[in-house]
Amino acid sequence: MRKLLIAGNWKMNTGLEETSFLVSSIDEYKSTHDNKNVEVLVCPPYVNLITAVDTAAGSPVKVGAQNCYYEDKGAFTGEISANMLREIGCKYVIIGHSERREIFKEDDELINKKIVAVMNHKLTPILCIGEKLEERQAGNTNNILESQLEKALQNVEISDYSKFVIAYEPVWAIGTGISATTEQANETHNWIRNYLIGKLGAEAEDIRILYGGSMNEMNALELLKLENVDGGLIGGASLKASSFNQIIEIANSVA
Ligand code: PGA
Repeated sequence: MRKLLIAGNWKMNTGLEETSFLVSSIDEYKSTHDNKNVEVLVCPPYVNLITAVDTAAGSPVKVGAQNCYYEDKGAFTGEISANMLREIGCKYVIIGHSERREIFKEDDELINKKIVAVMNHKLTPILCIGEKLEERQAGNTNNILESQLEKALQNVEISDYSKFVIAYEPVWAIGTGISATTEQANETHNWIRNYLIGKLGAEAEDIRILYGGSMNEMNALELLKLENVDGGLIGGASLKASSFNQIIEIANSVA
């Protein structure tokens, strides 16, 4: 059975104090309402990762990063390697978020290199894929997802499929308050599952496929109930402890 993963993508939000406060509040909730079938992850900005790791020490809450570079070290001003993230206690790295693809012009080739680096350092990647509104409207959603998956997975050897995570995030749903409908999410997550099994074999059943894009405490139940929605990558609603904890509670109720 796949464990649900409830992951907070804090983006470029939260200072030091807020990081400690948020992690403590989530820790407290998770520790007192722990369900072994639900994993909880927070992904703060780089500079607050150590604080988050220290605050979460000994609790079931895990810490991940929002990005990394694919080289281990060297003259890459401003970059952070997967190795550095592993060393400070990160367990996950979000790769290929649509904001990185759009604003920072990350292409599929770079994303593929980052996935390989993250896996080489025994971290779990959360590979983000998703179509833009005009692509969905033109009926191209599956073609876009197939192309993103195909390129991101090139030469990637997965030995433990439970340590590979995909986040389906329709770009039009991110930060807009308009989440995909249950029907859209169901159809697309089922398609992704079938694609992965066709490409990688039956073991791809173990890959978790998160939904991301305006998930909150109001819509989480109907999304998390879907067979192939294995958790959420949550932006806005992960910045409020009460909302995020309610989503954990909902995950606990369906896991
Ligand atoms: P959102 O962001 O929940 O604020 O839509 C999700 C994401 O970008 O991962």
